[in-house]
Amino acid sequence: MIRPFAAVVGWPANHSLSPVMMRRWLDDAGMDGEYGRLEIPSDHFDAFCRSLPALGWTGVNVTSPHKSAALTAAHTATEAAQAVGAANLLTVGSDGRLKADNTDIAGVAEALKPDAGSGPAVLVGAGGAAAAALFHLASQDREIRLVNRTRAKAEALAARYDRPVGVGTDIESALDGAALLINATTLGMAGKPALEPDLSPMTPAALVFDMVYTPLETRLLKAARRSGRRSVDGLAMLIGQARPSFEAFYSVRPLFGTDMHAHLATHLGETA
Ligand code: ATR
Repeated sequence: MIRPFAAVVGWPANHSLSPVMMRRWLDDAGMDGEYGRLEIPSDHFDAFCRSLPALGWTGVNVTSPHKSAALTAAHTATEAAQAVGAANLLTVGSDGRLKADNTDIAGVAEALKPDAGSGPAVLVGAGGAAAAALFHLASQDREIRLVNRTRAKAEALAARYDRPVGVGTDIESALDGAALLINATTLGMAGKPALEPDLSPMTPAALVFDMVYTPLETRLLKAARRSGRRSVDGLAMLIGQARPSFEAFYSVRPLFGTDMHAHLATHLGETA
C-alpha cells in the first residue's frame, strides 16, 4: 500500500504548526503516513490542486492566502465551506475528484468548549477566520455583535445570514453585557498593535477567546485573566481544525494520549 501523503499548502507556509501536530499524531498512532509543507504562489495554486489526484496524495490543508481559491478549485464543497466562502481542507476522493471542507468551524467549536454562555457574543474581525466563527455562532440562539475596522466588510459578512447580526466598528460599546469575546483579527500578533479593550462591561464569567497564538498569551488574554474572566488561546482552534483533517487524510481519529496543546506550546518555546 502507498503511504498516505498529505501536506499544508500556503504562501508562505514555513510558520505552519500543522506538520508538528500531524507528525505527532502519526507517531502516536504508529502510522506509516507522511505530512509535508509546501509553499505555492497564488498563480500556481489551481494547477497544483489539479495535480493532486495524479500525485496520489490524500489531500491538503490550505492556509493563507489560498482558502477561497481552494473552494473554487474543488469539484464539490460541503455546505459549511460554501457558507463560509473558504476551504482549509481539500481531500481527493477515490474518483479523483477534489472535495472542499472548512474545519476552522470545528476549530472554533473546540475552542469554545469551555462554557461560552448564551449571552451576547462579540466577534471582532471580518476575514476568513471571522467568517468561520460567525458560521459557528449563527447556529446558536444568542445575540451576535460583529465588530470590524472596515464596516463594509462586516456588513457583507453579516448579510450572508438570514438571522440578525449587529454590525459596528466600536468594540468598547459592543462589549456591554457580553458573555463572549472572540478576536478573529491579526491584532495582538507579535509585531502588530494589541487589541486591548476595557473588559469591565462584560459579564464577570465571560469567556475571551483569542485566535492569535504568537504570542500564546496575548495582552487581551492577560487582561481577561487579570480581570478574573476565562480565556482560551489560539492553539485550541488550531488543534480543533486539525483533528478532522487528520481523520480525512489517514482514516483514523486522533484521540491519542499526547497533550497537543502542551506539545505545541513547547514547540513555540512557551509554557502552556
Ligand atoms: P483571516 O483570513 O486570517 O481572517 P484577513 O482576511 O486578512 O485574515 O482579516 C484580517 C482581519 O484583521 C480583518 O478583520 C482586518 O480588518 P479590516 O477588515 O478592517 O482590514 C483585521 N485587522 C488587521 N489589522 C488591523 C488593525 N490594525 N486594526 C484593526 N483591525 C485590523
